[in-house]
Parts: sequence; structure tokens; C-alpha cells
Amino acid sequence: MKKIVSAILVIALVAICFFAGSLVRPKATVEEAAPVEQPVITDTHSDDGRTVIGISMPDRLLERWNKDGAYLRAQFEKRGYEVLLRYSNNLIDTQVDGILEMIKEGADLLVIAAVDGAALSDVLNVAKASNVPVIAYDRLIMDSDVVDYYVSFDNYKVGVLQAEYVIRVLNLMYTEETKRIEFVSGDPVDNNAKFFYQGAKDTLDPFFKDGKLVSLSGQLGFYETSTSQWSTDLAQQRLQIILNSYYPDNVRLDAVLCANDSTALGAVRALESDYTSANHVAVTGQDADIANIYNIIEGTQGMTVFKALREESVVTVALGEYLLKGIYPGEELISSSDFDFKCSFNTTDYDNGKKIVSSYLLEPITVTKDNIEKQLFESGYYRRNSAGLIYAAK
Ligand code: BGC
Repeated sequence: MKKIVSAILVIALVAICFFAGSLVRPKATVEEAAPVEQPVITDTHSDDGRTVIGISMPDRLLERWNKDGAYLRAQFEKRGYEVLLRYSNNLIDTQVDGILEMIKEGADLLVIAAVDGAALSDVLNVAKASNVPVIAYDRLIMDSDVVDYYVSFDNYKVGVLQAEYVIRVLNLMYTEETKRIEFVSGDPVDNNAKFFYQGAKDTLDPFFKDGKLVSLSGQLGFYETSTSQWSTDLAQQRLQIILNSYYPDNVRLDAVLCANDSTALGAVRALESDYTSANHVAVTGQDADIANIYNIIEGTQGMTVFKALREESVVTVALGEYLLKGIYPGEELISSSDFDFKCSFNTTDYDNGKKIVSSYLLEPITVTKDNIEKQLFESGYYRRNSAGLIYAAK
């Protein structure tokens, strides 16, 4: 009997040890957790007095993200923070790996402009497990409750400004004629692109309804007019096909509503190859990229929406400093600060599918040939060198 009891006890002890071993895991490290599916529960914050800011940008190809990276880095460094800055070549996996690396290297705060707004939930769970606050920069991160704040421009208004330009230039309020327009929208996986599109479409809808505007391709929805990766080449190809198919020599296209400057470059190239001069077609854009500023001066692009990226980074850095202290600010971030520009606090419109993300939104500005000197050159954002070439100055 004794033997049976002690055998049972031994078996029970072995079983307890076995299960306890699997429950009480040693403190995980980020290295062990590299696969995103198994987020680690560990605090990787640097404990050597450094405060590390991890910045993840989409790609270097577009002028704007280079500027964003440079502004953010300079301002965080000026305040004594260590900055890790990663670009992602517009690839989701590269971005995810970069973010994981930065967490591993001890990031205390993450500032992320997503390649694909809906592809970061897993890696953000790792950030959460490591207690790293996250700011969605410029593009809203979707499907994740880990995003703490969103800093951007009023994206809907960008589209409104583009449409208002078209209304003005085509004289849509007063003309009796029907004008023709085509849409070149942005990247469908970029949440901003839908806002830009919707702002423009809502503003132009009354003119479509009363017959003053028409799109001969019949392509007016967001997805059918979208441009993967905001690619200049894809925008050019799509518009070229539309021109060849729907706009014979005697049928004139009046406007191309391009969501940003990279797509506008493509549109202008398509127009130049089909029209004797692209100057007669109203082309919109966004970002005030240098190549597009030249086009505006030459008249091949009508407008761009200027977004003061330096201001976007100023708000992000101020917000980041609060988060690093464990404070989650509201209106006071912008009301009590000494920002000398307009910024609004929004707690209703940016629903990412998991939560409504509190957002700080800056004001976009229309730039045309008429105000380009004042808005871009006198403000000091751009300068001309002695050869007359334009360069970004601040
Ligand atoms: C930004 C635009 C930019 C586009 C392409 C958007 O998310 O808001 O400024 O032109 O991405 O990179």
C-alpha cells in the first residue's frame, strides 16, 4: 500500500513540476519574440539614462517622407533624445521588422507613418507588451487599440481644397457648359487616400448631379481610380489609357483631380504625350514637392496642397514628450503651447475600427501660381540658389 501511495506522490510531483515549468516562463526577451505572432511581455526600455525615439517612415522615394524624417530627428535630438529612424521601402514586412528592431533597441516611444494602415496590429501588440506608446504619424493606423494618438493634417479638407480649385478654374458655378474630369486617387491601403478622395468627391458631387461635370471613363469610385503605392508610373499609365480610350482629338479633358504630387507628375506626363500642351488641363496635387513647384510655375500643374511638415513634427514632438512622462493630453497640448500655427483637437472622426483615436490636425493650404511666392518662398520653406534652382530650406 505504502509503495502505491509513494508511486502516486512521485507521479503527482513530476506532473506539477512539468506544468509549473510551462506556466512560469522565464522573463521573455525581444529576441525570443521575433515572430510577431508571439508578442513578448517584457519591458525593453533603455535603463541607461537614454530616452530612445523610434521613427518608422514609409519610403525614401517621396520627397515628403525624407523631410518628415529629418524634421522629426532634428527636433527630438535637439531636446536630448536618441533617435532611431527607419525607412521601409514601402514594404509592409520591412516596416514591421524595423519596428521590432527599434523596440528591441530600447525605443521608449514609437512614431509611425504606416505603409499599410491595417498591417501593424501584431507588431503593435509587441509595443504594448513593452509599454511603448505609439503615435500614428500622418497616416492613421487601423485595426489596433494600441495607437495612442494620431497627428496629421485635415485630410478630408485636402480633398475639399483640390475640388474647390477645380470648381474655380472651370468656372463651374457660372458656366452652362459640361466640363470633363478624371480622378487619379491615392493608394488604397493608405487610410488618408480615402479621406482625400471623399473630400473632393463630396465637394464636386453637386456638379456631377446637375450635369456640369462628367467623367467620360465612367471611373469615379475610390478603388477604380486608386493608384497603388502612389506611383507616378501607374498614374501615368492609367491616365494614358483613359485618354486613348475616351478622349479622341476633338474631345477635350478639362481637369484631372490628382490626390497628390507623385500622381500629378504621372498625370502631367500622360497629358504632355497626348496634348500639345498640358497647360490647358487643370491638374491638382498635394505636398508641394520640388518637381511639382516647377510644374506649377510652368503651368502644367495648377495647384498643390501645401502641408507644413515642420509643424506636423513640432506637434508630434510636443505630444511625444507628454507621453514619455506618462501624460495623455487633450486640448491643452495645443491651447497652452506656443505653437504659432493652427491645429485642432479631434476626438470624433478618426475611428480605426478598434477605437476612436484622438487626433491633432493641422491646416492644409492651397498653393497656386498666384500665392506660391508668399506661401513657399517668403515663408522660408523653399529658396532659390544662385542658379535659380529651387531647394527646400527649412
Ligand atoms: C500623405 C501625402 C503623401 C502620400 C504619398 C499620404 O499619406 O498624407 O502627403 O503624398 O501619402 O506618400
